[in-house]
Amino acid sequence: MMNDKIAVIELTATALRFLDQTQLPSEAVMVETADHRVLLEAIRRLQVRGAPLIGIAAAYGVTIAARAWLRRHPASSDAGAFHRDMLHVCDEFAATRPTAVNLFWALARMREILAHPLSPDMLTAALEAEARALHADDALRCSAIGRYGAEIIPADAGVITHCNSGALATGGDGTAFAVLLEAHRQGKNIHVYADETRPLLQGARLTMWELRQRGIPSTLITDGTAAMLMRQGRVQAAITGADRIAANGDAANKIGTYALAVAARHHGIPFYIAAPFSTVDLSLASGDAIPIEERSGEEITRIGGSVVAPEGIDTYAPAFDVTPAELITGIVTERGIIAPPFDETLRALHP
Ligand code: MRU
Repeated sequence: MMNDKIAVIELTATALRFLDQTQLPSEAVMVETADHRVLLEAIRRLQVRGAPLIGIAAAYGVTIAARAWLRRHPASSDAGAFHRDMLHVCDEFAATRPTAVNLFWALARMREILAHPLSPDMLTAALEAEARALHADDALRCSAIGRYGAEIIPADAGVITHCNSGALATGGDGTAFAVLLEAHRQGKNIHVYADETRPLLQGARLTMWELRQRGIPSTLITDGTAAMLMRQGRVQAAITGADRIAANGDAANKIGTYALAVAARHHGIPFYIAAPFSTVDLSLASGDAIPIEERSGEEITRIGGSVVAPEGIDTYAPAFDVTPAELITGIVTERGIIAPPFDETLRALHP
C-alpha cells in the first residue's frame, strides 16, 4: 500500500515488497520476496519495524508462506498438513520480537482464519484477504488517531517525540506522528523536536526523514537534550507511540521514552501516548508483566558499523522501557482520547 508519499509494504500477485528501513535515510531500497523466511529475518533486523507494521508484515508473511505451500503441493487437498504448516509459520513470526503486542494480535487473527474447515487454496485466499484488511484497517485507525490527537496540540507549540511512530511504523500515517501531521495540516504552528533515539537512531534516521517529507518544521536533538529543552520553555507537549499498553495504562515504548516522561512531569509538560487498541493488552494487569526485548550489545558498542566502545565490555541493551501510567496525561486512540484512571477508561472504550 502507498501512503501519501511513502511506500512501506505491499503485497503483489507474486511477492511481498517492503522498504528496508535499515538503509534509510541514505537509500530507499525495496526488498521483494516470496519467501516468508526473508521477512522473518527482516523483522528481527528491524528492516521492517514499528508495532502496528510488524503485525501487518507478519500477516502478509503468513500469506506468502501459504502461497509457497500451494506452489510446493500443487493440487493437494491435505488441509491437515496445510493447517499444521501454517500454524508453525505463525509461531515463527511470533518468535521474532516479544514486546509489541500488535504482532501477536495480528497472528491471532490469522490463526482464527486457519481454524475454518476450508481447502488450502481457499484458506490461502482468506489469509490474504485478512492481511489486506488488517493493513487497510490500521490506516483508518491512524487517521482517527490523528484527528483526535490534533485537539490536544496547542495552536503554537514545540512538541517533542521519541523513536519513529509514522508511516514507517504503521499501515497509515502513524500514531503519534499522525497527531503531529494532522496538527500541521490544520495550520497549527508546531515545531517538532525529534529525539535521535539511541541506539538504532529511529528518530534521526526515520522520523526526521518523514518530517522533512511532510514539510513539518522540525529539529533533531540527542536524547540527552530533551530535559534542557523543556527547561528552556521550548516544549509544550510530548507525544510518543507505544508497543504495548497494559490494563492499568503502563505503556512500553522505545528505550528512552520513560526518561522523556519523567522529564516532562518534572517540567509540568503534558505527556501523551498515541496508539490503536491493537496495542492494548488487557490481559496484563501492569507494565511489570510486559516482556521487554533485549538486543545484542553490538547495537550499542557500534554505530553504523563503527566501533564506539572497547571490545569485550559488559553491555545492557533493552530495546524498550515502560512508562508508568501516573506519568501519562492521556492516551490518544482511534476511539478518542482516554484520560486516567486508565484501568477504568481503557476497559470502557476497548472494542
Ligand atoms: O524497535 P522499533 O523500531 O520497532 O520500535 C518502535 C517503537 O518503539 C515505536 O515508538 C512504537 O512501535 C510505537 S509507534 C507505532
